[in-house]
Amino acid sequence: MRAVVMVSGGGTNLQAILDAVRDGKITNTEICGVISNRTDAYALERAKKAGIPAVCVSRKAYATRAEFETALLAAVDSLKPDLIVLAGFLVIIPAEMIRRYERRIINIHPSLIPSFCGDGFYGLHVHEQVLARGVKVTGATVHYVDEGTDTGPILLQKAVAVEPNDTPEVLQRRVMEQAEWIILPQVIDAIANGRVSKDSNGNWFVTM
Ligand code: GAR
Repeated sequence: MRAVVMVSGGGTNLQAILDAVRDGKITNTEICGVISNRTDAYALERAKKAGIPAVCVSRKAYATRAEFETALLAAVDSLKPDLIVLAGFLVIIPAEMIRRYERRIINIHPSLIPSFCGDGFYGLHVHEQVLARGVKVTGATVHYVDEGTDTGPILLQKAVAVEPNDTPEVLQRRVMEQAEWIILPQVIDAIANGRVSKDSNGNWFVTM
């Protein structure tokens, strides 16, 4: 399976994927490219260090949103992916891309969907809202991407405890360590090895 990873930031989830491929925890998978929308994303460095082709498609380089989306889709198409992994990619995915790659795009979100998701819930903001509401359990979700924001079918979730006196940064790190960096590689390996299926309720499940 050829997988493309799309990123906007530090790329710790990308790193978890690269490490899992290296360690044989993800099999039957070649990370064939990394696409960033930000020139300054440290994720691009991580890709280069791993010897993986990395490109940047920045909104700022295009006059219109439509031209940006065309360029983004062309970059994806050129890599001929079987799977597209959104690993902290903070751009709304063009509708045309969702149609073309139906059930071939997955996203990692840093909460237990349907809590703390949707418009405006990304990165540190998610953890700020979790602390503001005072919930005691949060976590991460890997889901298929559809045309909504964080509305696609859920594949795998993992819960993480909120501790007294957490800061958004401390909680973000715990959610990454205890959930994101574990379940995202697990789902990629499951997809690559045919261990994702629908049950009698019409829900998607990953078997380990
Ligand atoms: C991760 O926490 C990811 O779950 C989140 O952005 C962070 C990227 O970190 N994604 C979203 O909020 C999507 N709505 P990383 O660049 O170190 O992997």
